[in-house]
This record gives sequence, structure tokens and C-alpha cells, in this order.
Amino acid sequence: MDKLVITGGRRLDGAVDISGAKNAALPILAAALLTAEPLEISNLPTLHDVGTMLRLLERMGVQVRRDEGRVALQADAVTSLEAAYDLVKTMRASILVLGPMLARFGAARVSLPGGCAIGQRPVDQHVKGLQAMGASIAVEQGYLVARIERAGGRLRGARIVTEMVTVTGTENLMMAATLADGTTTIENAAREPEIVDLAEVLVAMGARIAGAGTDRIVVEGVERLNGARHAVMPDRIETGTFLCAAAATVSRHRGEVVVRGVRPRTLDAVLDKLREAGVALECDADSIRVTANGHALVGANVRTSEYPAFPTDMQAQFMALDCIADGTNRVTETIFENRFMHVQELSRLGASIEIEGNTAIVKGVPRLSGASVMATDLRASAGLVIAALVADGETTIDRIYHLDRGYQAMEAKLTALGATIRRVAG
Ligand code: UD1
Repeated sequence: MDKLVITGGRRLDGAVDISGAKNAALPILAAALLTAEPLEISNLPTLHDVGTMLRLLERMGVQVRRDEGRVALQADAVTSLEAAYDLVKTMRASILVLGPMLARFGAARVSLPGGCAIGQRPVDQHVKGLQAMGASIAVEQGYLVARIERAGGRLRGARIVTEMVTVTGTENLMMAATLADGTTTIENAAREPEIVDLAEVLVAMGARIAGAGTDRIVVEGVERLNGARHAVMPDRIETGTFLCAAAATVSRHRGEVVVRGVRPRTLDAVLDKLREAGVALECDADSIRVTANGHALVGANVRTSEYPAFPTDMQAQFMALDCIADGTNRVTETIFENRFMHVQELSRLGASIEIEGNTAIVKGVPRLSGASVMATDLRASAGLVIAALVADGETTIDRIYHLDRGYQAMEAKLTALGATIRRVAG
């Protein structure tokens, strides 16, 4: 297993380009199953999870032609309607093939994702929604086995009220509804920008969708979908991660970092909290500049919640900032029940954090010091990288494969900004 070795205390300076969004790319790739015509996707991030989704599609018989940040997909000769355990267990978002497969082919067999490090993460809302649309779904030997028994083998439109706001659940149901008979309404829908990006692709493919980006999405099913072209939106979590890294280092060592190719409007809650924490930010239409304003970081309380509130995927990175700020701040996690595994590792770097239920009370310390730590999940790893960038001496982060799931070339991007960071093969 590869490790990252980071020597802290370097000044970051310069510009960094943000890649396409992982959480938009994954459902968009799954949408290729909805049509026999080619789907051409650009601004595709080079990430382990994207590779997993492409392998999953290839195994089903989807033609995949990839060239750097572009991929052309064609599902005109699908040979298998199964997503097997060996791939699904490495990436929970594999569940996104369920809705499209079922809607187009009338059957699907998808391994249950199982538990994951940041909590239980069940898929009951995906299942209930598809059942409301007429699917029969059973669990057999660890697999969700879904079929449509209606004459004609098509799903039917339904009114679905999800019990909680679920991002991939909303995406699965929205994709399934595009090919259903009649109109589907998804109430309590997730409003994440990635859902809007997926809806744009589906509409370009001929789907009829209204309300994506609101909590009520209405989909009028069509007979068939066609091919389309689409550029994946920029990754707002990668953007936020580089903003936190810049804020942490700029506050200590000055310098100026510009994060380019971004959509500031998708980051309102994060930008508000960074400003509250004492970070100087200037936004343009597609870039954000972090500058030293001569003031110490004061940190901020954050509470994760569904979009447009503060994202759970930015919690660990923001906590790293609070660790080095003046004062005591509270970080409350409301989405996942076990998403504080980075606390123990940040403490190894000298952070002062106490956990009370779903809240971490973070008392800022003047210095962190390098140590050996372990990445426990994707965003936790990013939080550790930020802490390591400002810690005295050397930090070794083990199990860095978590980072490779969701950040394209993170060490190359940080090196270009002036960080001292290298990968050591395990
Ligand atoms: C997506 C993101 C992930 C992000 C998360 C929350 C992708 C590929 N992943 O994950 O990066 O951290 O949103 O913003 O887009 N739940 C149920 N039953 C369900 C579905 C969800 O109980 O059927 C619960 C989950 O356990 C969790 C909450 O609902 O507590 C939100 O989960 P959800 O929005 O579904 O997360 P993902 O879509 O898996």
C-alpha cells in the first residue's frame, strides 16, 4: 500500500486546476446503460472510483473507449445484467447501475454494497422507490435481484417520498424514471449540484425532467433515450479541499493560492464558513483566490447537512483548519454516524479534539507536529494531508489508496504549489 510523506511548513503559492467531479461522473457513466447510442463524456477525472465504474460497465458488455479525460460509452450489446460483489464492495456508488439497468432491460442483479467505514449506509430508499415503480426486488445470496413483472417489462411512474434525503438514491430513481411509463415525482429529493449535472445529461439524451436541484423532481417517462455529449462539472469537494489547504498554509506562511476552473456558486456554505474562520477569499466567475490577510485563523463551528448546507464531504478538511485556529470550535456531523475516524489520527499530530456524541470539540493548538498516521476513508485522508502540510517535520500517511479514489493527482497538484510531498510505494 502506498504512503504519502509530507514535510510540513512549506509555503503554498500559485494556481491549481480543479478536475471533474467524482460524484457527478459516477452517475453520469451509469446513465450510459439507458441508451444503445453513444454517450461521450469529457472532463472525466482520472480516479480509482471512475476506473471501477468503467470496469463494471465493461463487464456488462458496454463498450468503453477512454482517452485521457474523455470517454465514449455505448451500451448497444449488453451481455450481463449483473454488478458483482468484487467490484461493488470497493465502491458503494456501484448501486447507481441498478436503476438504469432495471429501467432499460427489466432486470438487474446488483451485489449489496455492505457496510462501509463511515457508517451503515443502507440502500433501502433506492429499493423502496423502485418497488413503488412496479419492480419486484428480493435479496438473494447478498444480491439485490430486481425484475419487472408488468406486461411490457417497463417501470411505471409513481409518487415517491423518500424517508431521508439521499443523493445516489435520488439519482438512481431519477434515471429509472426516465424510461418508465407515465410520470414519476420524487419528493424530498436531494438538491446537490451533481444531481443537476446528471439531469442535464439525461435531458440531452431526451429525458423529460423538471425540478432537478429542488426537493421535488418530476420525470415524465419517454419511450427511449438517445446519445449525448457532456462535460462533467468541476469537483466542489476537491475545490473546497484545496481552499482549506491554502487557508491553512497561507495563514501561517503567507503566499497566495488561486483555485481555477471551479463553480463558486456550488460552494456557498463552505465559502461562508471559511470567511467566518478568518480566511480572505476573492471569487470570480470560475476561480477563487485565497490570500493572506495578516490575521490569525479563528476557525468556525460547522454542522454538516444536505446541500445547500455544509457538506459532510468537507467535514474532515475543515476540522483540520479548526485544529490550528485560535479558539475552540464545534464540528457536528449529522449525515453519517461514524465519520470521526480522522479525529484519532489528527490527535496523533498533536490536535486537541474531544468527541461528544456527533460533535467534535476542537481546541486550536499553536503547532502540530509530524507523525505516522493512517487514512481511514477518502475525505479523512484529505483532512490529514491538510494537517500534515502545516505540521512541523515529516508526516507519513499510510493507506493512501483512499485518497486515490477521489482526488486526481493530489500530490502533483500540491507539489506544483510548493508543498514537499512524495509517494512511497508500500
Ligand atoms: C453521496 C456521495 C457521498 C456523500 C453523501 C452525502 C456519491 C457517489 N457519494 O453518497 O460522497 O458523502 O452523498 O452527501 O455521490 N440512507 C439510508 N437509506 C438509503 C440511502 C441513504 O438510510 O437508501 C442514509 C445514509 O446511511 C446516510 C444518509 O442517508 O446516513 C445520506 O446518504 P446518501 O445521500 O444516500 O449518501 P450516498 O448517496 O451514498
